[in-house]
Amino acid sequence: MKKLLFLLLIITAQFSSKADEGMWMPLLISQNYEAMQRMGLKLTPEQIYSINNSSMKDAIVHFGGGCTGEIISSKGLLLTNHHCGYDAIASLSSVSQNFLMNGFMADRIEEELPCPGLSVKFLSRIEDVTAKVNNYINDAYGKDVETRFAEIAKEIANAANENGTYESEVKSFYAGNKYYLFVYQRFTDVRLVSAPPENLGKFGGDTDNWMWPRHTCDFSMFRVYSNNDNKPAPYSQNNRPYIPKHHLPVSVKGVRENDYAMIMGYPGRTTRYLTSYGVDLAINVSNPSVVKIRDKRLSIMREEMEKDPAVDLQYASSYASIANYWKYFIGQTEQLKNLNILAQKQREESEFQSWVSGYDRDLKSVLPDYQRAYANYTPYAKHQTYYREAFMAPALTKLAMGFEMIEKAYNARVSRDSLDKLCKRVMMMRKGALNNMNETLDKRVFSAMNLLFYQDIPRAQHPSVYATEVFGKFGSENWQKAFDDYANYVYSTTALLDSNKMKNLCNADNVEKLLRDPAVVHALSVVKNYKEYYEPQINDFNYEMFELNRAYQGALLVKNKNKQMYPDANSTMRVTYGKVNSYAPKDAVFFNYYTMADGLLEKYKAGDKEFDLQPKIVGLLKNKDYGPYEDRNLGGLVTCFITTNDITGGNSGSPVINGNGELIGCAFDGNWEAMSGDIAFDKRYKRTICADIRYILWVVDKVLDGRRLMDEMTIRN
Ligand code: ARG
Repeated sequence: MKKLLFLLLIITAQFSSKADEGMWMPLLISQNYEAMQRMGLKLTPEQIYSINNSSMKDAIVHFGGGCTGEIISSKGLLLTNHHCGYDAIASLSSVSQNFLMNGFMADRIEEELPCPGLSVKFLSRIEDVTAKVNNYINDAYGKDVETRFAEIAKEIANAANENGTYESEVKSFYAGNKYYLFVYQRFTDVRLVSAPPENLGKFGGDTDNWMWPRHTCDFSMFRVYSNNDNKPAPYSQNNRPYIPKHHLPVSVKGVRENDYAMIMGYPGRTTRYLTSYGVDLAINVSNPSVVKIRDKRLSIMREEMEKDPAVDLQYASSYASIANYWKYFIGQTEQLKNLNILAQKQREESEFQSWVSGYDRDLKSVLPDYQRAYANYTPYAKHQTYYREAFMAPALTKLAMGFEMIEKAYNARVSRDSLDKLCKRVMMMRKGALNNMNETLDKRVFSAMNLLFYQDIPRAQHPSVYATEVFGKFGSENWQKAFDDYANYVYSTTALLDSNKMKNLCNADNVEKLLRDPAVVHALSVVKNYKEYYEPQINDFNYEMFELNRAYQGALLVKNKNKQMYPDANSTMRVTYGKVNSYAPKDAVFFNYYTMADGLLEKYKAGDKEFDLQPKIVGLLKNKDYGPYEDRNLGGLVTCFITTNDITGGNSGSPVINGNGELIGCAFDGNWEAMSGDIAFDKRYKRTICADIRYILWVVDKVLDGRRLMDEMTIRN
């Protein structure tokens, strides 16, 4: 019996896969070093993060603001996700030359395409500035903590910028219990080098999104350019490929179960210390609202996009990002419930409560204060979500909101000169806002979003415009018809959509007339209602959260002083380490740690929007033409694999690195069973989904004929 038990223990130990929680700061990585070594890391901490010598961090960039990229050649070649390059690729495309649909490969370096507006940031160094910040915060009486922090953060960052050489910021960690300075160099000449056809880069579409097993080849490649001194410079034909301090070598050996894997990148936001009250609000109010609103908005977008390839391309990027977080919130709600996160948080909180009375009696009220703050905020929570997600959805509304400052200025009787200036500003904004707008689509969104707002927000919180303009003008017997008629009226009579009219009207002489424009009347009614009656409570809530989070996390740091406690993600560089690992999502179901190209053919559906493949690709797959990228042991082309790494949005495009510091894949997603992960990490289920580097190289070589890129990489067999 004993023997059997022992055996059982070994077996369960082998099969109970555990995900590896923690998004660690590279500056402090030596704290984790032993654990990393035990799992298979062969590098030294200095090879991961060093400010004196080149290290891994020098190959990692914050890409475009919301993603991660890594440098994979000595000539500044950059790898990131397809969905990270998506907007840039769509902007460079036209219906007749559609790189999004067909893919792109610059055959020569001269053909690499500049991407206006796209930039990447390299991290130079991190410095602990907690003492400096705290000294200032504690000294400057009479101002609130947020203002005081903003002042000192600006001062510290300015000093580190060394007159514009760097771009620096001070970030708060553990909700204001620690502060670090980040010094960056930003490169603004970034060019598109290569992209797979969309039906590989987004294979599986929204159906497969956030799910394993996966076959998406979610990558794109760019190149960072610098001036002749290897320094950042605005786009110029004379710029040349940037020579990085470090680039990641590529390993084509392939991965096996339990292999060490680590990820370095820029996770955007987690709320792992959210209380049970916050979880409750997410499950019951915020998440279902976002999903309902986006559901409607997406269905309208889909209908209009299907009618016209030009509209399809125009809205492709915005559709993808709205749909991505639509499904995210469905999954998050589902798993918060499945995994009983509410009860888990409540247990943690009662444990905290019994500990805290012995530690600091003043902190005894933190959790009850949370409860009270959430209770006060809850009646307005939905209004806030609908304001952001529904009311602001139409491009016309966003533009019309610009007249808020003009109205204020007008009422304050500012000079004609200032009024003219404000009008010029609105005209500038107008260009950006309307550039990518389709009027029919926007009008339908306007009608549907306002109807939702009207139906779902308590009557007492409504802006007056619904009674006066909508029902006053179009009757209240049939709500939907009234909102449709109203939308028709607003869109056909507003001057905001008419460039010629606007040129004549947007000046001090005609401000009064513009303020009576139906689009402006609509927007300002909703905005003023929100700002006057609801924003103050929302601001109060946010400020209370700021204070409470600081107290709560500060206390948790003390409570956990013998364990390592990592800070929430905040768009700063982090390291997560773990291993390649399969998992069992539910009873009797087992998910292998890798997928193969045969699975592409299994999922393939000719003519389908999500599962189509180009004939050339189908041919290559049917002939099993995998070249040197084939996995000999597994007998085929490995497409994706999963690891136990702890990542979130913003990590998209991050390098997946083996124990020798070599690139083995590109991280692009999380899995369905652990979608509550941003709020509570689940050790059983949480996985990171990665595109195998050999799959990416296969597409570059065989599908896109881009061998020249392979020649500049450091490929290790
Ligand atoms: N879920 C992925 C992420 O947030 C994005 C996947 C994009 N693909 C899509 N079908 N929308 O990193």
